[in-house]
Amino acid sequence: MTIKTRTSDGVAVIEIARPEKKNAITVAMYQQLADAVIAAGRERGVHCLLVHGQPDIFTAGNDLEDFLKSPPADLNAPVFQFMTALANAEKPVVAAVNGAAVGIGTTMLLHCDLVYCADNAKFSMPFVSLGLCPEFASSILLPRAAGYGRAAEKLLLSEPISAEEALEMRIVQRILPPAEVIGYAHKQAQRFAALPPNSVRETKRLLKAGWKKAVEAAMLDESQTFARMLHGAEAKEAFTAFFERRKPDFSAAQ
Ligand code: COA
Repeated sequence: MTIKTRTSDGVAVIEIARPEKKNAITVAMYQQLADAVIAAGRERGVHCLLVHGQPDIFTAGNDLEDFLKSPPADLNAPVFQFMTALANAEKPVVAAVNGAAVGIGTTMLLHCDLVYCADNAKFSMPFVSLGLCPEFASSILLPRAAGYGRAAEKLLLSEPISAEEALEMRIVQRILPPAEVIGYAHKQAQRFAALPPNSVRETKRLLKAGWKKAVEAAMLDESQTFARMLHGAEAKEAFTAFFERRKPDFSAAQ
């Protein structure tokens, strides 16, 4: 299993576990993630969700090979099912990030309620470098959190983000030593079990209500643009260059 799930102390723990491929997420894994988020939302004894990766990697984002072979055909594709499930999760979602969080590894954090990271964490949204565009409402959630200029640097130039910068940009709430991140996040997640669930749920809904419609509209626009760009020459060159371990050459593009 590349997505492992377990419930402990009222927390539905979702672990991304494909270390040999740096936790890159395949279509099948997106389906498992979507199912896990939906199941946790329905399970009565669950008060909170916790998402984490491995001690040295959160996730390398979309599995590039899988994405080329089986691009999302429509908005029912597993990747979009996962995005919709996480964006609409009524229970709180906590994330614990060790190592690299690439692409959706960073954009999913913008939908979580509490994000803790290790001092070795490194975030990036290299969509432009890959001939793609932002996804998962990052084109509005990142400028909202960090301001337009900072978001433009990270999204237009695909600049990586250190743990300290992620704290400044309000992507994460706290930086911890690598060995403590998952434990700390789990303790925070467990705290929800002692709180009144309806009050937690309504408060989360109200906290996000101000930009919910804008998030939905951005996700739709981005998803359609992303799906189209995935078939383009720029993405093809970027993906091929990654597997050939060379720099991409976009000089033929207009
Ligand atoms: N899709 C498919 N395979 C991936 C992958 C991805 N996104 N990221 C890593 N892998 C694979 C590599 O091809 C390699 O496989 P191999 O051992 O069979 O050759 C293995 O995972 C290890 O990756 P490697 O690049 O050697 O690890 P690293 O520690 O040097 O670097 C990353 C880790 C995450 C920084 C680097 O792998 C990376 O940049 N990955 C691509 C990230 C990306 O562009 N994601 C898409 C976002 S939309």
